[in-house]
Amino acid sequence: MNIIVKDNYAELSKYTAGLIASFIKKKPDCVLGLATGSTPIGTYKELVRMHREDGLDFSNVKTFNLDEYLGVGINLEQPYELDQSYARFMYEELFKHINIKKENIRIPDGLTKDPEKHCQWYEEEIKKAGGIDLQLLGIGGDGHWAFNEPGSSLASRTRIQALTKQTLDDNYESFYKKAGIAREQMPHFAITMGVGTILEAKNIIMIANGIKKAGVVAKSIEGPITSQITASAIQLHSGEITVVLDKEAASK
Ligand code: GLP
Repeated sequence: MNIIVKDNYAELSKYTAGLIASFIKKKPDCVLGLATGSTPIGTYKELVRMHREDGLDFSNVKTFNLDEYLGVGINLEQPYELDQSYARFMYEELFKHINIKKENIRIPDGLTKDPEKHCQWYEEEIKKAGGIDLQLLGIGGDGHWAFNEPGSSLASRTRIQALTKQTLDDNYESFYKKAGIAREQMPHFAITMGVGTILEAKNIIMIANGIKKAGVVAKSIEGPITSQITASAIQLHSGEITVVLDKEAASK
């Protein structure tokens, strides 16, 4: 496991984008696994800059997002802050600024009529694409990957997951509150890739910044492997793993 500690969030973002960009240059038709949340925003900004200034080419890149809130779908007619779907997040933070093809983007559909079937379909799509070459991950305040809340099986696959109070609180503070959306209106369920699905990615980059993440970062990379901290499954991965932290997130 390579653990890289950067001075601050800007440096972390530049470094992480650099890793992703070199991967794309080596394998222009690579399959990327992408994450949402506030942590990857800087990385996506940097990738957009590299696309604009250095011609970083996404035309053959395929992407799979980790998760989506259940009952929520992208609605471009609404202002961004009122559309809290992860599909909109990806569109605004990355996809609309780069030359990725629409047909190469996969995000779980929060409006699916048959969630179970959809989850199976998502797994099959990942397989059909040849698996995920490089998975970018953040880490939730309770140590989760994607929406694999504490107690999720480390062998879990793409499925519906109920969100914990802590995750609802965290995501309310980071996103919903700023948009003036009432906490009661937040979706309480999500479609998420499982820990087992994530572990099949050939390479993993996990990023975290800020003092709030220091405890779960330490537990996930040095503590016991436990379904109570699903990111601790990182220790089970046999491929190339890079953890990129700022000084605060690395402090414990
Ligand atoms: C959500 C996402 C995760 C993300 C986490 C942390 O729960 N489903 O994929 O890692 O938030 O978000 P943030 O980066 O805002 O701390």
